[in-house]
Amino acid sequence: MTNQTPNEPSPVTRRQFLKNSSLAAASAAAVVSFPAILNAQTKPPLNAIIIGLGGRGTGAGKNFLDAAKAVGAEAKIVAAADIFPEPTNKAKENFGVPTNKCFSGFDAYLKALEVPGVNYVIIATPPGFRPGIFTAAVAAGKNIFTEKPVAVDGPGARIMYAAGEAAKKKGLKVAAGTQRRHHAGYIETIKRIHDGAIGEVTDLRAYWVNGGPIWHRGTKGATDLEQQINNWYHYIWLCGDHCVEQHVHNIDICNWVANATPVKAWGLGARQMLGNQTGEIWDNFAFEFEYANGVRMHSYTGQIKRDFTAVSEAVVGTNGTSNPAGNIKPTNGKAWRFDSKGMVDPYEQEHIDLINAIVHDKELNETKTVTDSTLTAIMGRESAYSGSVVEWDDMLNSKFAYGPELLYTDPSKLTWGAFRTLKSPLPGSHDIFKDGAVLPTA
Ligand SMILES: NC(=O)c1ccc[n+]([C@@H]2O[C@H](COP(=O)([O-])OP(=O)(O)OC[C@H]3O[C@@H](n4cnc5c(N)ncnc54)[C@H](O)[C@@H]3O)[C@@H](O)[C@H]2O)c1
Repeated sequence: MTNQTPNEPSPVTRRQFLKNSSLAAASAAAVVSFPAILNAQTKPPLNAIIIGLGGRGTGAGKNFLDAAKAVGAEAKIVAAADIFPEPTNKAKENFGVPTNKCFSGFDAYLKALEVPGVNYVIIATPPGFRPGIFTAAVAAGKNIFTEKPVAVDGPGARIMYAAGEAAKKKGLKVAAGTQRRHHAGYIETIKRIHDGAIGEVTDLRAYWVNGGPIWHRGTKGATDLEQQINNWYHYIWLCGDHCVEQHVHNIDICNWVANATPVKAWGLGARQMLGNQTGEIWDNFAFEFEYANGVRMHSYTGQIKRDFTAVSEAVVGTNGTSNPAGNIKPTNGKAWRFDSKGMVDPYEQEHIDLINAIVHDKELNETKTVTDSTLTAIMGRESAYSGSVVEWDDMLNSKFAYGPELLYTDPSKLTWGAFRTLKSPLPGSHDIFKDGAVLPTA
């Protein structure tokens, strides 16, 4: 243990990991306190809708209400939308949303967007639906909290870039679920790195190495598509694979530190433990990304049984190292550690920041940064899937679309008969420049 940097995977038993996670959650919950900075009398109430009532949609709804309370803004959740009817019960039970404002089906999100007075949209569906639903929310003129990642392929990312620009032109505010961008420890540490605390950045590392395979919800579902959406994590067109779906968080930190997106990627990976289970995704990857200045990001992501776990980032500079979550170790000089006492839980802080931007009309649009990091992860994945070096511009302009065309153009018109199957990609036979549906550029 002694010669390891804080960011390197260390042998942690599952029991220790669970203990550490619950302690971290408890301490984050205990320190939430905010100044009341809004005058609720003079501001319009925030009327939110939640699209996607799973674990995160429900959690984000609670974070939104807590954040509004903390800043003194009047807020409620006025409608909810899910592709299935059952999850909308959570909106009734947790947030008191009336039954006639709980919508289900492919077009549920459009119905919720049409509810009068809505000015805050929480999008927490599986990522494949993000570009289409996000675009509809921007077209409807709403402020948005969007979960990450925001696309699963090049066409989806282009749609997100275009919708983010449209949101900017309309003066809409957008926050993304890359919550480390709202974490006081990361904000302070990365500012210090940018101010030269460890000299010039020469190397970056990113880890999302979990200790076991991802959930599978069984084969419940009347149609193939229903079964796929229930198990969305296992289908690339819905999830993007876990190197996109989860590891985007760590990649986002490296891009933030580098203040850039990489120009190319090469990588390896495999589907080992998932074996014959239904689904297409792989369960482990290792990537190397290169930025224009030659700095590289080494990135590891796995959801596969192993006896160590690491979800973190590391930065190496000409004059020291940093765990950007909260510490700086200069080669010559005093180490610094972020004091997290009083820090607001970033899951709540992201809503506080969005609410403040709306109420005080301050600029906030995280669409580009979250799309940049999503596309970075997609570029790594495509390099592993194809067995080729993949360059940023090729990835950005790729016409390879994993989903059915309506997913990108108008997901409300999808039907239960529509879906795509794909064999788990094999390097050498997966060609992102030839295969897949060809879509118009956004
Ligand atoms: N920022 C974070 O730390 C964090 C944590 C967890 C999840 N997430 C993100 O939140 C998203 C959802 O994850 P989850 O864990 O809540 O998954 P989940 O499976 O629990 O919930 C997803 C919900 O979306 C619904 N849904 C699917 N397609 C839909 C559509 N077209 N329209 C409306 N509803 C639809 C599903 O029925 C389900 O209720 C993912 O993108 C995930 O990456 C982020």
